[in-house]
Amino acid sequence: MTVKPPADRDLAPRYVPWSEEAALAVMRALPALRGPLLPVLHALQESFGYVDPKAVALVAHELNLSRADVHGVLTFYSDLRTSPPGEVRVQVCRGEACQSVGGHALAEHAVSSLSVGFGETAADGSVTLEEVFCLGNCAVGPTVRVNGRLHGRVHAAGLDRLIRDSTPSGEPA
Ligand code: FES
Repeated sequence: MTVKPPADRDLAPRYVPWSEEAALAVMRALPALRGPLLPVLHALQESFGYVDPKAVALVAHELNLSRADVHGVLTFYSDLRTSPPGEVRVQVCRGEACQSVGGHALAEHAVSSLSVGFGETAADGSVTLEEVFCLGNCAVGPTVRVNGRLHGRVHAAGLDRLIRDSTPSGEPA
């Protein structure tokens, strides 16, 4: 399955291009926090879609931390990305409750139909596939999140439809 990038769909997050100036503006707009590293990294990801590796030195300088500290946190949390996500971001829950109601088959379907592995983005940037471990929607699994929107009781055909609906024309992907 090839996913075409969405045009003006509200499901598709819009990010600003990475720049040092924009990153500084994002960081400096945050209130003073105790332990600000994670909120800063999340704020950068919300703005740019990912945390550019070039931000490590910038964040370290701004927060008076070592580059190793920032790099360690950035690479520890799987929620934080260091490269731009695809236009359509598909997250499949691999938690036990979802696995018990068909989540494994759904995960296999996602990999084979999108031709991309978990944690990978298609070469054309159309889709990113991620595994997550519980989205807090256990009672109505299997659960997926597509471009930030949660969906329950999703099986193969439903996942295909959700992805198709995130394309600009809604045409089969
Ligand atoms: S295990 Fe999938 S939402 Fe909780």
